[in-house]
Amino acid sequence: MEFHELAALSSGHVAARALQTAVKLGLFDKLAEAEATAAALAQRLSCEPRALALLANALVALELLEKRDDRYALAPVARRFLVGSAADYFGAMVLFEERLFALWARLEASVRSGRPARTADSFQGERGETELFIAAMDDLVRARGDARFLAERLDLGAVGLLADIGGGPGTYVVEFLRRWPGMRAVVYDLPGTLEVSRAILKRNAPWALERLALREFDYHTQEIPEPADAILLSNVIHLEDEQTCALLAQKCFRALNPGGLFLIKDHIMNEALTEPVAGALFSLQLLLTTRGRDYSFKEVTAWLARAGFAAPTLSRLPFPPFTSSVASARKPAD
Ligand SMILES: C[S@@+](CC[C@H](N)C(=O)[O-])C[C@H]1O[C@@H](n2cnc3c(N)ncnc32)[C@H](O)[C@@H]1O
Repeated sequence: MEFHELAALSSGHVAARALQTAVKLGLFDKLAEAEATAAALAQRLSCEPRALALLANALVALELLEKRDDRYALAPVARRFLVGSAADYFGAMVLFEERLFALWARLEASVRSGRPARTADSFQGERGETELFIAAMDDLVRARGDARFLAERLDLGAVGLLADIGGGPGTYVVEFLRRWPGMRAVVYDLPGTLEVSRAILKRNAPWALERLALREFDYHTQEIPEPADAILLSNVIHLEDEQTCALLAQKCFRALNPGGLFLIKDHIMNEALTEPVAGALFSLQLLLTTRGRDYSFKEVTAWLARAGFAAPTLSRLPFPPFTSSVASARKPAD
């Protein structure tokens, strides 16, 4: 690593805070209405003009805005991803990161104690927090395109019923149902999450609710009640410790029909747990907020083998933009 890279690393939070603050202020939405000088923008956002100009200049330097004479306008990336009305809006994820920022200040304490910096409750404690968490998951997956990518690549033609465990906003199942008209699906999740999921689905894909059931479910205490031809576990194992992941694999095995397909999508790490980079860093966020971390393919394979699955395969989604992988395994046919 060169010195300039080290220096940039040391102050990486500064650029993140500039972006998060701009989204929180509604700056990109205001500039979507019309380009503006710093003074005009400051007035519309109830900010101090000199300070707002400093933020706008930093956003130009980060290539999120463009500056012509003394007027600021959206750069293409901001128009596509940071304006509330955009199809690929990514703002809820930015605002979720903004909410997590205070927790990062407590990383040292978590590394010393090994304990999370907040209750590891998947943000179920308060409605506003659940809304932000689930909207963030939806924005991230839609903006990056994971669900569309998998719907094009996976062969789910023989799947009559798909169970999405911890399916959250249902972003994946919506794309699978779109691609496979004969498929039905169930999203199993906690009640607080499902309230938010229902609102998101009614707004974004009301047609999907005709073939998609939302069922209250806690994988810590319940068995999956209906046999499924395929089970998806996306971004769930990273919430949990090793023992829970092993038990979850066994629950999924029991709920699958013979020959059924089990898909685990997550940052699935190399054996040293150092790659992909995004996964190694994300494990620190998981330390702050969950009981889990990102696991290696070797660890995942051991849980699946113990549950009875045939040997899994691993497909890495192409980087960029993706940073995760899919491990797939079948329950042996009778
Ligand atoms: C990181 S989100 C992933 C959402 C979605 N699968 C995706 O990949 O975008 C984790 C999901 O697991 C759900 N969850 C957490 N604990 C759970 C539990 N005990 N039982 C069922 N779902 C749970 C959360 O509510 C949330 O929707």
